Amino acid sequence: MMDRIRNAKLREKVMSPEQAALLVKPGMVIGTSGFTGVGYPKAFPLALQERAEKESERFGLTLITGASVGDELDGALARSGAIARRYPYQTNPAIRNSINKGDIAYVDMHLGHVPQWIKKGLFGKIDLAVIESAGIDERGGIIPTMAVGCSDALVQCAERVVVEINLSVPMEIEGLHDIYSCESAPYTKPIPILSPGDRIGCSAIACDPEKICAIIFCWLPDGNKELAEANTEQQAIADHLIEFIKKEVAAGHLPEPLPPIQSGVGGVANAVLSGLEKSEFRDLSLYTEVMQDSVIRLMNSGKVVMASATALTVSPSMRPEMFEQLEELKGKIVLRPEEISNSAEVISRLGVIAINTAMEADLSGNVNSTHVDGVRVMNGIGGSGDFARNAGLTIFTTSSTTKNGSISCIVPQVSHVDHTEHDVDVIITEQGLADLRGLTAFERAEKMIKNCAHPKFRAGLEAYLEKVKASACAKHGLPAAWMLDPEQ
Ligand code: COA
Repeated sequence: MMDRIRNAKLREKVMSPEQAALLVKPGMVIGTSGFTGVGYPKAFPLALQERAEKESERFGLTLITGASVGDELDGALARSGAIARRYPYQTNPAIRNSINKGDIAYVDMHLGHVPQWIKKGLFGKIDLAVIESAGIDERGGIIPTMAVGCSDALVQCAERVVVEINLSVPMEIEGLHDIYSCESAPYTKPIPILSPGDRIGCSAIACDPEKICAIIFCWLPDGNKELAEANTEQQAIADHLIEFIKKEVAAGHLPEPLPPIQSGVGGVANAVLSGLEKSEFRDLSLYTEVMQDSVIRLMNSGKVVMASATALTVSPSMRPEMFEQLEELKGKIVLRPEEISNSAEVISRLGVIAINTAMEADLSGNVNSTHVDGVRVMNGIGGSGDFARNAGLTIFTTSSTTKNGSISCIVPQVSHVDHTEHDVDVIITEQGLADLRGLTAFERAEKMIKNCAHPKFRAGLEAYLEKVKASACAKHGLPAAWMLDPEQ
């Protein structure tokens, strides 16, 4: 166990999670590792939860993470009432409830912006960084586990650092990461990544050993769940998408091999990647923020040659297989800080194909990914905006309806805008696909209704569109033929 701490002097800082939790004072700003349900500290927040419940102390903490984290962190601290403010993304039911009840102030942000916010002090002083690690190297460098997230920025800026060594992650993970930190303006330099596999940094997060105030051990694995198989709707969406990409290649709009792909998490993402496995595409690569099981399968089948992300969110059943292959994967997978995985500069340079999920999309192509009815937060924008705004091709997918078909996800106007029509190229539902590029407002609307809306909602959407057209004619003097001639 102690051999995970290669800097012998640091071994003196080993303590129990309960002792480490005593370092927390009310009102602190705490930043932790963790991204899409992996690589987050577990023993530390569980001990803090216990302390908060025992002392009935309302800590009023501000919690910043790379992205979503497991129940041992967000759930435990939300239930114990320890968190007052939360940035930048969450997916945990307990914390979502507290947010929507107004008990926790939540600000969802572009994940690619978080590291610069930390460096500029926009969250205030980071009192404590709590970083899950596989081990500590000779110079005090912290070797991350399944995610890098914003850990490098937190370690750089925090007053003090707690390292939680997770013994369920093999030490052989060392070498999978590529830590490169950007300066703030006006000292920014180009990020020298020309292809997804380029390594430009080092394998551990540099840390002044003096800053490390506690080292604790943890045996708990990441709490992320098994992935559900794609349902028929998700499979239909994936089929439309792959057909579309094939046509784009045939038309000469996309090169072969394809530009790197970014895909969100969930059933559609997995179905798309599985579909690509069966397709004739080869030498695929990913430049994304999170990789799921399908990426490991695609690598084993030789379809994907290189993948870059900030998190490796593999399911519990895939984990042992992946750990077995760590040495081999180091030549094919790079885990980077989210400042780099989600960098506008790199995403734009590589011409990434970005595939993300909408909760609803409107007739103009605006997308709501975050707020039910415009008010109740679901998760947050996450990295979808980082990719959508900067990708070479931006695709959003959604089922045409939700809640057993009672709500249309294609609506006249979205109740909350995360991605504007100017950043959205293509919308896909199980009904079909609307390529919105180069279309006027009315052309977009017609295509969305015809190709993406569920048949039972089409008449209502058409009636809305006719009303808008009539009002445009009346107000702005458009020729009446606009309304009457479907060819115009
Ligand atoms: N109106 C009301 N509820 C809606 C809705 C709508 N238009 N669209 C979705 N929902 C509800 C669903 O009914 C479901 O509710 P439930 O949890 O009670 O079953 C819930 O929202 C989640 O929707 P689901 O269809 O299961 O989609 P999902 O799990 O694929 O998640 C997002 C969709 C948009 C919430 C999710 O992709 C997300 O958080 N995206 C933003 C972050 C992101 O894209 N990150 C980048 C890549 S990792």
